[in-house]
Amino acid sequence: MSYDEQITAMEQEFSRELLAVAAAEDLRRLERSFLHVKKGRIRELTRGAAFAELDVEARRSHGAEAAQLEQKMRALLDERLENLTHKDHETTPDIGIDFSLTADVQPGSIQPVMIIQAALEDIFRGMGFRVDEGFEVETEYFNFDAVNVGPDHPARDMQDTFWLENGLVLRTHTSASQVRALRAYGAPLRIIFPGRCFRQEETDASHETSFYQCEGLMVDRGVSVANLLGVMRTLMSEVFEREVKVRLRPGYFPFVEPGFELDLRCLICDGTGCKVCKQSGWVELMPCGMVHPKVLEAGGVPAGFSGFAFGLGMTRLAMMKFGIPDIRLFDSGDLRFHSQFPASA
Ligand code: DAH
Repeated sequence: MSYDEQITAMEQEFSRELLAVAAAEDLRRLERSFLHVKKGRIRELTRGAAFAELDVEARRSHGAEAAQLEQKMRALLDERLENLTHKDHETTPDIGIDFSLTADVQPGSIQPVMIIQAALEDIFRGMGFRVDEGFEVETEYFNFDAVNVGPDHPARDMQDTFWLENGLVLRTHTSASQVRALRAYGAPLRIIFPGRCFRQEETDASHETSFYQCEGLMVDRGVSVANLLGVMRTLMSEVFEREVKVRLRPGYFPFVEPGFELDLRCLICDGTGCKVCKQSGWVELMPCGMVHPKVLEAGGVPAGFSGFAFGLGMTRLAMMKFGIPDIRLFDSGDLRFHSQFPASA
């Protein structure tokens, strides 16, 4: 190996080892290994019989090259030490990116119904409910028959259905998941299933062919209307972040007996009467009731259990919470609408 090759080989070896350095003590070891006054590997370049046999001139120039390499190594060691002790670089490898630069990134938006859904999931989990999803494409049985809507039941017409060519339906309500849930998990059970529903509707400011509901089910021994009211009051107070008043009116749905409409004391006028509550002081919020015995039976729930169910209109709730005047805005793709719900404020 010529002298030049020896110098190059030493430099390459040093660089390789320097790359593997992870901490300051590795650096000290590297320094000792190459540059120690007596035992450093760089001394091999100016030692030994071959070096001694060189003439004065050659020894001087070789010595100068070795000294130059030593200087270069020291500079590299210093630079690496500087990097290692600088806080930002302690955990980040030096890959040529300046992590201190601020980025001009648009965080995007969250669809407002999803904001409501996340809040509901949080609140219900806090009350011991599990969260499930159900299926958007359902069998006729689970969408209708299982929840006590027989083949000739007029309620089938109340919910204009999208039928698929294979005989399945796009679920018209999240109640379609009630019996699936009862069969899957058994009683006692506390569960919500938020999700998308579909109906063949004429669209206007409050009707769309697709919208979101959040179905809830609580089945246990001794569950009564008092539990239903308690859960609903807690829910609404948390969603609207203030005390709310609720009331029940009789309502008819085949899957509950008795069935109710739950109204919310108008949050705009506090019950004194305004445009939003059509001067009644109350806003209709969600249908609910005690689970019909036929539904419990279809779900395989043993005798001795009772339960309540509710079908909260999540799209409607989002409209009330955020003051959204037209349901068609949700799917409009209109950035002026969506950018009002930034992902991070
Ligand atoms: N499934 C009904 C609908 O979409 C809403 C509903 C009413 C759900 C009463 C319920 C309930 O769980 O108890 O019109």
